[in-house]
Amino acid sequence: MKGLKWTMFLMLLVAAALTGCSSDAGSSGDGDGNDQTVGIAMPTKSSERWVKDGENMKADFEELGYDVDLQYAEDVVENQISQIENMVTKGVDILVIASIDGEALTDVLTQAENQEIPVIAYDRLIMNSDHVSYYATFDNFQVGVLQGEYIEEQLELDSTDETFNIELFAGSPDDNNAYFFWDGAMSILQPYIDDGTLEIQSGQDSFEQGATLRWDGSKAQERMDNLLSAHYSSEDVDVVLSPFDGISRGVISSLKGVGYGSDDKPMPIVTGQDAELASVKSIIAEEQTQTVFKDTRELSLKAVDMADSVLNEEEPETNDTETYDNGEKVVPSYLLEPVSVDLENYEEVLVETEYYTEEELQ
Ligand code: GAL
Repeated sequence: MKGLKWTMFLMLLVAAALTGCSSDAGSSGDGDGNDQTVGIAMPTKSSERWVKDGENMKADFEELGYDVDLQYAEDVVENQISQIENMVTKGVDILVIASIDGEALTDVLTQAENQEIPVIAYDRLIMNSDHVSYYATFDNFQVGVLQGEYIEEQLELDSTDETFNIELFAGSPDDNNAYFFWDGAMSILQPYIDDGTLEIQSGQDSFEQGATLRWDGSKAQERMDNLLSAHYSSEDVDVVLSPFDGISRGVISSLKGVGYGSDDKPMPIVTGQDAELASVKSIIAEEQTQTVFKDTRELSLKAVDMADSVLNEEEPETNDTETYDNGEKVVPSYLLEPVSVDLENYEEVLVETEYYTEEELQ
């Protein structure tokens, strides 16, 4: 009898311990988790910004207790599709996607929809699907406006009697953002092209002619080589509109190759975007002139906050419900503010905010 009581006591003790354990697991998973997994599909590691975006989001989601499956597709559309398919099959709770080709994900998003996995578009809008819940991005039109205004101010286009030679680069035609950047920049520059203050010696004045597939800097370099040899043997180029730092660096390599950047042949104004480390260094070296800073820390927090709200059945904060029509629906969006950066303000915008340390920029 005494033995039986003792056995029952031990059994109760074990049961209590097990219950304690499992309730612990229920509320906090592996100690600090919440048992939910986020699938993050990023385009490529070849551009530094996406590496930062991925790292920031992973850390921010983990901070809230989520597990994270973070994948990069090296700019190969099929890779990204199969990565997302795998995430759907594994049953992630939500997907956050920065697409490579915004028009290529319709089918895989239908699979996500069938599994009731919500989707947040990150930085780039996913087109042709009604299964995009929300969109976290920057004011993409404004990015182009900042590039155009920078050129306008530096050359004092609104008051000058001079004319300047400009060449125009655009982003990847499969990325919806590229059209916003172009339209924003042209909203400032087009009047000066029309009245002859800005001259395009190549005559290549359309988005299609300036487009750079997959934002590839080496393709931009090749195009700039061709432009310089065909149209600038007796003229100098004064400005290059570039929508992205990777493209800017390709353009600058080409320019340096034919002697720009010397006393008698100064570098043209070259714009950019993303404040990538190599480009900020290039600005300090007075090669690239400007970039547009989009704080990936803020974008990450915004996307994480959206996903967390969706998973908790709350409505995420949005500030634009009109602009981003993906062909199937207008996707409710949160737009963050981009900031123009050059030699004058990089310390204040990038170093004082600890985006980069002084050492990194040496
Ligand atoms: C765009 C993005 C830009 C730039 C570009 C190339 O979609 O908004 O900030 O990163 O892709 O990666």
